[in-house]
Order: sequence, then C-alpha cells, then structure tokens
Amino acid sequence: MSSDRSSSEPTVGVSVAIGELNLHAGRTVRLHGWVRNLRSSGKILFVILRDGTGEVQVVVARDEVDSDSWETAQALTYECSVMVDGLVREEARAPSGYEVTGRRLRLVGPSPDFPIQPKEHGTDFLLQNRHLWLRSRRQIAIMRVRDEVVRAIRDFFHERGYILVDTPILTGAIGESAGTLFETEYFDLGPAYLAQTGQLYLEAAAAALGKVYCFGPTFRAEKSKTRRHLAEFWMVEPEVAWLDSEGNMALQEEFVCFIVDRVLENRRGELAVLERDIERLEAVRPPFDRISYTEAVEELRRRGSEIEWGADLGAEEETLIAEGRSAPVFIYDYPREAKAFYMKESPEDPRTVKCDDLIAPEGYGEIIGGSQREDDYDRLLTRIREEGLPEEAYDWYLDLRRYGTFPHSGFGLGLERTVAWICGVPHLREAIAFPRLMTRLKP
Ligand code: 4AD
Ligand code: MG
Repeated sequence: MSSDRSSSEPTVGVSVAIGELNLHAGRTVRLHGWVRNLRSSGKILFVILRDGTGEVQVVVARDEVDSDSWETAQALTYECSVMVDGLVREEARAPSGYEVTGRRLRLVGPSPDFPIQPKEHGTDFLLQNRHLWLRSRRQIAIMRVRDEVVRAIRDFFHERGYILVDTPILTGAIGESAGTLFETEYFDLGPAYLAQTGQLYLEAAAAALGKVYCFGPTFRAEKSKTRRHLAEFWMVEPEVAWLDSEGNMALQEEFVCFIVDRVLENRRGELAVLERDIERLEAVRPPFDRISYTEAVEELRRRGSEIEWGADLGAEEETLIAEGRSAPVFIYDYPREAKAFYMKESPEDPRTVKCDDLIAPEGYGEIIGGSQREDDYDRLLTRIREEGLPEEAYDWYLDLRRYGTFPHSGFGLGLERTVAWICGVPHLREAIAFPRLMTRLKP
C-alpha cells in the first residue's frame, strides 16, 4: 500500500444513507457506496453512486474539488467503492429529487473490469456471476421486495397471535412425497431427509399452542428444470387448531391480500424499477374465486384440455384456470390420490380430500397448498399404509390423533413463487439471492 496522504486518510466515519438524503438537504454529508455509472464532460464528472438504499448523482467539478479527488474521479470504474463528502441539493429533475455536489472523493476499493457491464448478458453468465449480478438495479429491487414480503408475513401472524415454532431441517419422516427427497446418513440411525415441509411438526405444536407458524428453508430434489421449481425454497406454514377447510381458505385470502397491500404501500419505487403493472396487483382483492376440483376439470375440458378426473393439475392446467381472472383463484377438494396422505377425507365425497391450492394470476401457478388434516386415527393409519410409508416413522404423528385429537388446518405459501409473482419476474431463480437449481451449486 502506498503511504501518501490520500490513501492513509480514514474512509469511514458517520455516513448518510442515499435513501435518506431528503433529511439532509442543504447540508454537507459523507456517503459511502459503489459506482453504478459514470459520465464525463471534460471538467465535470457525473457519478451515479449507489449504496443499497438508493442511488444519487454526484457531480464532481474539477474546479470545486482538491487535486487528489479530481485524480481519483478520473480513474473511477464500474463498481469501485468510494467515499464522498458533498453538499446535498434539491434537484427536481433527478429521479430521487436530490443531487450531491462533490467536495471530496476517496477511492476505497478499485474494480478493474467489472464482469457485468451495462449491456445484454446471457442468463448462464449472470447466474455464474450471481454474487455480482445481485448489485444490479433490478436484482436490488427484487431483494427489497422480498424483504418487505418477509416482514409482512411475520407481522401478519404476530398481529394475530400466532406463535413462531421453528421446525427441524433434518427429519426422519417423509413430509410430502418420496419422489423428491434429499437424503443424508444420520450417524448410526440410518437416513435422514432434508425437510420438504415443517407441517407434521407444526401439527404437534398446534396441539400445544393453538395457532402456530414456521418459516424457513425447505428442500425438494425436483428433477425438473422449470421456471417454477427450486431445490431449496422458503416456505411459511401456519397451522391452526379448530379451523376447518373453509376457514383455512379465508385465512389464505386475507394473508395474500395483506402481503400484496404491504408491498404496494412500501415498495412502489422497486415495483417501478421492475416495470411492474401496478394495476394487476391492485386487482388482488377479496373475495377470490373458489372452484372445486371437479368444476375445474369440467371447465378445463370445455376449453379443450384432455384432463381426466383424478389427475393432479399441472402448470398448464393452472395457467388455463387463472386466465381471465385478475385475482388468485382457489381450487379445492382434490381427488385423494392426487394429494398427500395427511389430508382429511371429505365427508361429502370420500373420493376427495379437504384441501385447496391457491393459483396466482398471470401464469405464476400455485403459490399456496393447504388442507384440513385427517384427525381420525384409523383413517390416517390406513392412508399411511396405502401410500406405503414406513409406519414406525409416523408413530409420533399418529399420537396426535391418539391423545386429544382435534380438527385443524394449515397451509404452506412458497416465498419465491409469491415474490416472483408480485415482482412480475418470470423465473424463480431471481426471487432468491442464491438459487439452488438442479444444475447449479455455485456461487
Ligand atoms: O403444496 P406444497 O407441497 O405443500 C406443503 O408442503 C404442505 N405441507 C404445506 C402445508 O400445508 N403446511 O408446497 C407449498 C408451496 C407451494 O404452493 C409452492 O408455492 C411452494 O410451496 N413450492 C415450491 N416453491 C419453489 N420450488 C419448489 N420446488 C416448490 N415446491 C413447492
Ligand atoms: Mg402443492
């Protein structure tokens, strides 16, 4: 390191967030950030500086800064990190309403040949450079929306008296389906599986606490490369004692509207960066349409689909059903064989179970899967046997029906699907910072 005065000067100290420049108009402040863009007109350099909270143009004029600062400014490149002292000015033409007149500028970290340049890059290249791609305007906007969604989720449940219960990631019983398990050796106890869901454990917690939820990463070895599937995704799952399937759908409707409202309230700027059609989100109002699986099959067949009663609905069918609907739509009471073993048999029609999928508009597909749980010991045991699941792994789960069984329901909302839909980004890989895809484990 050189020992000249400029580089030994401290480059930290109280700094102001770019997103809060409005509180500092007319004052000289210190900013820290990264260079997003540069434009020069001889004696003046225009630097777009970003710090995660916002972006601002810093005007560096040769005649108004010391010679070190001017020299530093001349050598700036994309994404180098800098410290700037400057005067905050209102500027009606600036996107943020403010601009900074640079007084002093120090380089903190150079950035020679930043790999992502302002031009088109292929998706493969961007994913390989996900750690750097995250700094782009669009990715920052998505991460900020995701953060808002997560906060809305937690607020929703806490405001309604739910207790957070963290469920294990290493599990001994299959939660959803045997086909998509990540397996690992667990000491001398044989295989353990990465959790596909926290639900079974939450049901035990609901018998202790009444209204509970878990929110964490879940894992599915999906051997499909669709835009709707990740190998690791976040799911929020409430579980509610004394709630039936009807009440479960009402809860989901209120929940999804709450989340969308909060993003509309607090993340308008980000949605604008993403060029999201706000009206599509404003149309997300209760009540959502509710159609039974049987009605859905009839509707699909009328519209040319060859689906047979009994088959699960795939992405194509979901997209068809969502078409022409501006709000999400519930499909309820699926055939037993299309769904997981724990769902409650419909008293009206034992071929079906008391469950629902919530299908988002605009082709985003299922964002929620929920159900009332089978609370009858014998029927649950029969289902476990029918599915060929190892009975001994479920003895504790059956205990919940042996000791004070109770009607209860819950659901799981996929965070990335929800964020992708709200942001209007087509592929789930952009809705999480470091997506785990079938063909990618790095970075
Ligand atoms: O419908 P699923 O499989 O439901 C459950 O896991 C239940 N145990 C939840 C419950 O009742 N507590 O998954 C729930 C949601 C889906 O609707 C979808 O949004 C998301 O999780 N999801 C995925 N998201 C990304 N990648 C995948 N591979 C996903 N699989 C499911
Ligand atoms: Mg599902």
